Amino acid sequence: MSGYILAIDQGTTSSRAILFGPDMQVKAAAQREFTQFFPRAGWVEHDAVEIWGSVVATVREALAAGGMKAADIAAIGITNQRETTLVWDRETGKPLYKAIVWQDRRTAEMCDRLKLDGYEKLFTTKTGLLLDPYFSGTKLRWLLDNIEGLRSRAEAGAVCFGTVDSWLIYNLTGGRRHVTDATNASRTLLYNIAENRWDAELLGILGVPLAMLPEVKDNADDFGTTDIGLFGAAIPILGAAGDQQAAMIGNACFDPGMIKSTYGTGCFALLNTGTDRVVSSNRMLSTIAYRLSGRNTYALEGSIFVAGAAVQWLRDGFGVIKNASDADALAAAADPQQRVYIVPAFTGLGAPYWDPEARGTIFGLTRNSGAAELTRAVLESVAYQTLDLFVAMKKDWGDHPIETVLRVDGGMAASDWTMQHLADMLAIPVERPALVETTALGAAWLAGARAGIWPDQGGFARTWARERVFDPSVDEPERLAKVMGWRDAVARTLTSNL
Ligand code: G3P
Repeated sequence: MSGYILAIDQGTTSSRAILFGPDMQVKAAAQREFTQFFPRAGWVEHDAVEIWGSVVATVREALAAGGMKAADIAAIGITNQRETTLVWDRETGKPLYKAIVWQDRRTAEMCDRLKLDGYEKLFTTKTGLLLDPYFSGTKLRWLLDNIEGLRSRAEAGAVCFGTVDSWLIYNLTGGRRHVTDATNASRTLLYNIAENRWDAELLGILGVPLAMLPEVKDNADDFGTTDIGLFGAAIPILGAAGDQQAAMIGNACFDPGMIKSTYGTGCFALLNTGTDRVVSSNRMLSTIAYRLSGRNTYALEGSIFVAGAAVQWLRDGFGVIKNASDADALAAAADPQQRVYIVPAFTGLGAPYWDPEARGTIFGLTRNSGAAELTRAVLESVAYQTLDLFVAMKKDWGDHPIETVLRVDGGMAASDWTMQHLADMLAIPVERPALVETTALGAAWLAGARAGIWPDQGGFARTWARERVFDPSVDEPERLAKVMGWRDAVARTLTSNL
């Protein structure tokens, strides 16, 4: 038995290990949740050592579940929560602080100051990102300012900075490799995505020493081999990509104009723009979709912070459903005459509004409104938010033809009701893949193709199969009326008129 590919998917709330067979099907998997730390309002941290422990444990569990040994694994592909920021001692591998998670808002003021100083255009032009606490750069600056002695040690080359991929690879290789990949680098606010290098000017503005940054590699590349003591064999690590980019690869969105949207806690939609590095006029992000054989493919990205999390709120906060899977039936039973809207701005609004101060709102309640109407409004909000991204992307990409199909994945893609509403509001078909482990599949493909045992890009794209397509089913006047109601609800939710 050999030729298996191991995907490690290190996400925001859990770590997973997924073993794919030579037929590219899932053979075994394991998952572990880990602690979320909220030390202050708006702060979110993870314990880097706990994350590493959870990864090692899930790999061992997946191997045991599949009845396999490390020697059966031909290669590893890594995918991860992006932007989360870690620093550790280069010599001992000891973390020097908790991991500051992408959701953490502690650098909001720092971002405001940089904006006031007129830096946003420069950062956007070079990195494709905005000055928002979401990204790693200002989190790293916070660490350099707040951990005693960190800056001087970093300048002396004694400290490593990395996103989660870097941290895992450093540990998997027994501390021998300090590397990252182009997609994760593109989320740091420090990486020039046009010139493929850490940008000295941006490092200067944020006061980040170059000596602490990892080497940036292609997505399918040689990232080192696992320390033999870990799993009992030296397994080559041949793929790495941020999780949203990996989902795009796993959904085979390789042609310019193709779009994927992943529905987890939040929602991340990526439009493949090919070799075009679009500078958004609509507050979308421009990012590296993947870099293969030294060539960048770019994407426009829209990030929504609350999608599946709103269904969790229905269940845990509001208590109107027992299980997330109850939501579809309840939404279907809602009164069609009522126009209830929920804008789930629980942690502010992401793209295209970027309003961190906005908070959730409900509009249109009547004496007859109940659990069904609220549930429908929550599921609808996911579709409306995706529509906002879709419209912004279309504006940004001018006359280019945008694929008339949306490929979806992630937990909430299982909701038939939501996917139908998505097709209705976007007025395009929505395709759900047969293999729902899209993110892990993307990481596995990078490693499997690099190892020469999985098909090349074209061959892999041809294996992509859909489980179901949702076709638009409402007429245009009804669609427009619903969308106008949503726009009005958002306008009344925003804290400033952007
Ligand atoms: O940008 C953040 C994103 O990568 C997190 O994804 O799936 O870990 O919530 P997830």
